[in-house]
Amino acid sequence: MIFVLGATGKVGRHLVPALLDAGAHVRALTRDPAKARIDPRAEAVRGDLGTSDLPALLAGADRVFVLTQGHSADREAAVAHAAAQAGVTHLVKLSTTGVHFGQQDPITLAHAEAEQAIREAGPAWTILRPGAFMDNRFAWLGSIQAENAVYVPDTDPPSALVHVRDIAEVATLVLTTSGHEGATYELTGGEALTAEQQVAILAEAIGRPLKYVEETESAAKDRLVRTYGWPAKAVDGLFALKRESAPHEHVVFDTVERLLGRPPLTFAAWARENASAYHHLE
Ligand SMILES: NC(=O)c1ccc[n+]([C@@H]2O[C@H](COP(=O)([O-])OP(=O)(O)OC[C@H]3O[C@@H](n4cnc5c(N)ncnc54)[C@H](OP(=O)(O)O)[C@@H]3O)[C@@H](O)[C@H]2O)c1
Repeated sequence: MIFVLGATGKVGRHLVPALLDAGAHVRALTRDPAKARIDPRAEAVRGDLGTSDLPALLAGADRVFVLTQGHSADREAAVAHAAAQAGVTHLVKLSTTGVHFGQQDPITLAHAEAEQAIREAGPAWTILRPGAFMDNRFAWLGSIQAENAVYVPDTDPPSALVHVRDIAEVATLVLTTSGHEGATYELTGGEALTAEQQVAILAEAIGRPLKYVEETESAAKDRLVRTYGWPAKAVDGLFALKRESAPHEHVVFDTVERLLGRPPLTFAAWARENASAYHHLE
């Protein structure tokens, strides 16, 4: 049985059905099964990594997909330790390319520490290090719906955004076939696009022009606090990560194509799939 953490998130909601399609028995973790809309073929279990009894959650698991949202190395170390005790044979951790590039922001440092805990826990391990997700562009929804405009910090670099379905497919391969033990895979899309190019591709997909507006970092921070009510600390954390990742975000790795035997999904494909979400609000 494969135990999936983060089963309802951006990666997990693609990973669970892909594993089931590959014939695996899946246990999917969520804090709220009633709201979660987990594929009914999976065994949905209620649990909170902060408070739940990890040995009970892990009982009977052979493999674990380790994804945490809170960027807590301690939490992942606790999962890795409990997994080793429970007889899990393979841990697959979702990390970030930032670790490959030695970034020093708090989110990347927590992933680096968690990777180490996974490697030292005992079971075989595989580390997946994706770059920035295409899904991050859902952050543009509000201003596109309201005013057909996208506001981008003037420091945002060209980025080789990766489709979460490619991450999920690689995770499925790693969790259901052998030969990936001890491997670390950096995962990106196939080309680096500037934010202006991304906006043009999205405009084409949704069928109406979009205004592209660059703004200063402080204006962009104010917008996140004002529009989404983000705590200032979370906004600072995001921009610390952005500053550290900016010099590397254009780098393209060939891992997705090497592992899946096809080119990575493109931002144009992502934009077409998600175009309907960007409808204009009158
Ligand atoms: N976005 C990017 O560009 C990017 C790039 C590289 C790496 N990453 C990494 O990707 C990870 C996030 O993945 P994602 O975007 O797929 O996740 P996500 O969409 O943010 O979803 C978070 C998941 O974590 C679960 N979760 C949150 N708190 C929990 C808790 N206390 N106990 C149990 N489950 C909990 C949620 O489940 P419920 O709400 O159902 O309980 C949900 O399934 C982070 O580690 C991030 O650093 C992101």
